[in-house]
Amino acid sequence: MNRVTLTINGQKITAPAGEKVLWAALENGIYIPNLCAIKDKPEPNASCRVCWVEVAGKTKPVTACTEEVYDGMVVNTRGEKARRLAKAGFELLMASHALDCAHCKANGACELQKIAKELGCSLKPRGLRLLLRNLPIDDSNPIFVYDPNKCILCGRCVWECKKQKGKAVLGFAHRGFERRLTTFGDEPIGKDRCLDCAECVKVCPTGALALK
Ligand code: FES
Repeated sequence: MNRVTLTINGQKITAPAGEKVLWAALENGIYIPNLCAIKDKPEPNASCRVCWVEVAGKTKPVTACTEEVYDGMVVNTRGEKARRLAKAGFELLMASHALDCAHCKANGACELQKIAKELGCSLKPRGLRLLLRNLPIDDSNPIFVYDPNKCILCGRCVWECKKQKGKAVLGFAHRGFERRLTTFGDEPIGKDRCLDCAECVKVCPTGALALK
């Protein structure tokens, strides 16, 4: 495959032609906040809105998970406009995320904590009213627990589940604020056709899916 040369934050790197900026950066040790990106999914979800970067020659920031690299491209992951958008996207997610790091199994490995550190912002949104959903925790699976109040609806578990079974046990229902992870027929996860492989737990960026 052809490779192109580009510059990210002043660092010259090469990447396969057609690769998305996000993966080119991550593979070269340059972190760009991301939550909904899935490497082997042909079409990016592009729903979390935290992966903004600036590209020389473009007037507006672009999402790194959807933007393709090209030869001579110059990317800045820390530009002011991109950072402002990333922080706004992150705050929106955090406005409906039940924050309980001290009792969360993901504490220390949580990608929300990593992103807050990278963006230099608090896990608690400052300018937004909290809209917590207070949904019941699904404890029906023998291996893992699903807490929808910590779920940021990134879709990684849905994709992983589909890969394991060919047909996902997990999926999404509803739209907007009502959107949530569900199973076919809205059965508890443990009562559906779950393989108990727990691969969904491994890809969850927060503590929404956690081993018992
Ligand atoms: S990682 Fe790009 S929008 Fe979520």
